Amino acid sequence: MEFSVKSGSPEKQRSACVVVGIYEPRRLSAAAEELDAASDGFISGLLRRGDMEGKLGQSLMLTHVPGVLCDRVLLIGLGRERDFTDGGFRQAVSVMANRLQEAGAAEAVSYLSNLHVKGRDTLWRVRETVLGVSHTLYRFDQLKSKKDQPRRPLRKLTVSVPSRRELPGGEQAQREAVAIAEGVSFARDLGNLPGNICTPTYLAEQAEALGKAHKQLKVEVLERKDMESLGMGALLSVARGSRQPPKLMIMHYQGGPRDQKPYALVGKGITFDSGGISIKPGAAMDEMKFDMCGAASVFGTIKAVASLELPINVIGVVPASENLPDGDASKPGDIVTTMSGQTVEILNTDAEGRLVLCDALTYTERYEPQTVIDIATLTGACIIALGHQAHALLGNNNPLINDVLSAGRKAGDRAWELPLWEEYQDQLKSNFADMANIGGRPAGTITAACFLSRFTKKFRWAHLDIAGTAWNSGDNKGATGKPVPLLTQYLLDRVEENA
Ligand code: BES
Ligand code: MN
Ligand code: ZN
Repeated sequence: MEFSVKSGSPEKQRSACVVVGIYEPRRLSAAAEELDAASDGFISGLLRRGDMEGKLGQSLMLTHVPGVLCDRVLLIGLGRERDFTDGGFRQAVSVMANRLQEAGAAEAVSYLSNLHVKGRDTLWRVRETVLGVSHTLYRFDQLKSKKDQPRRPLRKLTVSVPSRRELPGGEQAQREAVAIAEGVSFARDLGNLPGNICTPTYLAEQAEALGKAHKQLKVEVLERKDMESLGMGALLSVARGSRQPPKLMIMHYQGGPRDQKPYALVGKGITFDSGGISIKPGAAMDEMKFDMCGAASVFGTIKAVASLELPINVIGVVPASENLPDGDASKPGDIVTTMSGQTVEILNTDAEGRLVLCDALTYTERYEPQTVIDIATLTGACIIALGHQAHALLGNNNPLINDVLSAGRKAGDRAWELPLWEEYQDQLKSNFADMANIGGRPAGTITAACFLSRFTKKFRWAHLDIAGTAWNSGDNKGATGKPVPLLTQYLLDRVEENA
C-alpha cells in the first residue's frame, strides 16, 4: 500500500475514485461543495432525493458524475458537524477504506483529511488517515489455506491537504505514519501468531532479522547459560516448566552520537501463559498467546524508529519464555534469587510477567538509559480498572509520566496514570523472602508495578500495563498493535526536544 500527499481541487483529480464527506443532515463538506459545483448540482440533487442522510457510518459510491475527472465519487457520512471529533474521523476513514477495497478502485484521493476536527491539525489528519486505512485493511491470513483476497485491492491512496503551504508538513506526517503503521502491522502479526509458532526462539529470529534489515540496529540474544551466569534466577524460574529455551533479546538502535544515553524499552515476551502450576481456567486460555504483546510493541517501535532513522539511541530489551506446568516447573512457595540479589517467594506461578521483567530491568541498568519504559500484559486487574480504552501507566518520575501521557494523547493511543504510593508496597510482604510475587486481590495492577519498582531504583522508569488494550476478544479477536503509536510518538517527541 502506497500513500502520497497532494493539494488541489477534487474535481481536477484524475484517479479511480475521489472521496468526500457529507455531514448530517444532507450537508456538503467543502470538498463536496466543489464537486457539486463542477457537476452542476449532481450531488446536492442526490441528497435532496434522499439517497444519503450523512450519518456517521453511511457511504454512497457514485459513478459517472458529470464534470468530475475521477471514475467514481465516494460520499462518506460524517454525522453532525459539531459532533465530529477524533472518533468520528477515525470511523469515517475506516468506512472509506472498506468501501474502496470492495469497489475494486485500486487508487483513490481522499478529501476527508481536509475536514475540520476539533483541536487537531492537518498533520494529525494526514497521519490518522494513513494509520486508519492501514489498520482497517490489515488481514492476518498467513495460516489460512484459502485466502479471500479482494480481486483489486486498494494500492495507492493520495491524501489531500488544504493548501500547498501544508505539503512539506503533510509529507513528513505521511512518512512518520507509514513507519508507525508498519510497526503496528508487525506487532499485530507477532501477536496473532499462535504459541506453537511464535516461541521465544521465533522471537529471537525475528529480532535478528530486524537487525539484518537495518544497518543502525545491532541485535544480541542471550541464552539460558548466559542468564545463569548473570544470576537471572527469576527469569529462569519461569522458563523451568517449558521445553522451549528462554531468550533475552537486546536490540541496540544507534541513530544518535555514540556517547548519547539511550531510551530503553523493555517488553514482556511470554509466548504462552498457561499460568504454570497455578494453572488458569480453560475459558479463553488461547488468548494467552497474546501475552507477548509487550514484546511485540518493542519490536514494532524499534522497526518504526529504524526505518525513520531517528537521530537518537534506543535499546529494546525483550525477555521471552513460555509459562507452562511441568514436573520441573516452579511451584507456589518456591523462593528464587533475582539478578539484583533480592529474593522472591513465588506464591502464584501465574504472576510470571513481573518475574521475567525484573531481571530484564536489572540488566537494562548497564546501558545507563535516560529513561526506561516497560510494556506488559501484566494483570487481569488492569482490565477491571480501565477496561479496553486505556493502558495503565505507573512510574517513579513525574516528567516521564507526563511525557508518556502526552505522547498517548497525540497518537490516539492513550494511557491513564494509577498511583504508585508507598503504602501499597506492604501488600508484597513475605514471611520467607524479601518479597512475594503477588499482593492479593486489591489493586492488582498497582501491586504488580510495586514489585517492578523494586528493580527500577537506578533510573527514570514508567510501566505500561497493556492487558486491556493489546488485543480484541470476540468476533474480531486479534492483536491491536498498541502501544506502538504511543511509544513511537514518545520517541519522536524526544527527537524534537533534543533538536
Ligand atoms: N498475562 C496475565 C495477565 C492477563 C490476564 C492479561 C488476562 C490479560 C488478560 C498475567 O501473567 C497474569 O496471569 N496475572 C495474574 C496475576 C495474579 C496471579 C496476581 C492475574 O492478573 O490474574
Ligand atoms: Mn500469568
Ligand atoms: Zn502473563
